[in-house]
Amino acid sequence: MVFLKKLTRKKFWPIQIYRNLIIQISKNPFNVLGIETSCDDTGVAIVNSSRQIIYESIQLQHDIHEQNGGIVPSLAMKSHQIHLPRVINEALIGGKLDIVKDIDVIAVTRGPGLPGCLGIGLSAAKTLAAVLGKPLIGVHHMASHALTARLTHTELIPFPYLTILISGGHTLILVTNGINKHIQLGTTIDDSVGEAFDKIARLLKIPWLKGRGGGPGAALEQFAIGGKSDKFQIPIPMRKDQQRRKEMNFSFSGLKTCIQQLVQKQNLNLEDEQVKKDLAAGGVASNKSIRASLEKLANERYNIPLISPPSHLCTDNGVMIAWTGVERFREGLIDEYNIDHIPKWSIEDLSK
Ligand code: KG4
Ligand code: ZN
Repeated sequence: MVFLKKLTRKKFWPIQIYRNLIIQISKNPFNVLGIETSCDDTGVAIVNSSRQIIYESIQLQHDIHEQNGGIVPSLAMKSHQIHLPRVINEALIGGKLDIVKDIDVIAVTRGPGLPGCLGIGLSAAKTLAAVLGKPLIGVHHMASHALTARLTHTELIPFPYLTILISGGHTLILVTNGINKHIQLGTTIDDSVGEAFDKIARLLKIPWLKGRGGGPGAALEQFAIGGKSDKFQIPIPMRKDQQRRKEMNFSFSGLKTCIQQLVQKQNLNLEDEQVKKDLAAGGVASNKSIRASLEKLANERYNIPLISPPSHLCTDNGVMIAWTGVERFREGLIDEYNIDHIPKWSIEDLSK
């Protein structure tokens, strides 16, 4: 895309001027390099405009954070700093692509996330894009989770659809009307569902599962397999709060307190029941029990199919960022080289 390269090098042209031109240019095949460093995964991938994942590489940080019982931002940042150049290099070598000749667009997570961690990915992406004269796209992390299934499902899922985003940082029910149009119907009033999993895994001293799809939440899922669901009385959050239920909001901090009390009261010795360390699982959305309940609800009550990305693409990765880059580029939504990270960023603000 030589023409586009010349354009992005012209310093003083406002990006709006390019928009229609980019929409035209993006009708040709193109490749996007995506970089994700918003939390504890250093993820890089190359995705093309034909909905193909050319190559993906990732560096996990479970070994660093497990000993601290949770993600330590300064250590996460340091690890991104150390590993990101190699992970980018691996994606290019693995995909047999030359960054100068074969990569057309650089996409990167701009927010929400841990400020220091976002900064590492963003500086790398901005530098690459500016030096190579390629278009830059800053991506909203949660929007990219909501768009991934449009890449991984057999056919392109049309808008609108209902999105249930359950991660370590967020718990959201959204109506996704377009790549930039997400209406928030509900969220958590306290902890996210991922936080509840992580804190309870810590309380129960369950060792984290290793490898892709591992971590504390996945370990708790493995731990619970074969358990008796009626052994302890666990409250259903906000069951009696009609107003909050109408608002479609959630609450998960009470679950943690309840487990804490149970552990204290029963003096449970859970260390004796620890699971094998090296089993693999997926993200909160790939938790088999949660997925089965959601599927049942969607199919039986509302008669709609539940679609979800494969479990390894439910947790953070570079593929979702590269794919969002593909989607945004097609709409001419590129950014200036001087964009900053946005650690707190409502998904609804995208349409403003
Ligand atoms: O999307 P994600 O990788 O990062 C954020 O954007 O926050 O989600 C990470 C969260 C963590 O809280 C992790 O423990 C949880 O997802 N998680 C799980 C499972 N796998 C990961 N929670 C429940 N069951 C799982 N199998
Ligand atoms: Zn995420």
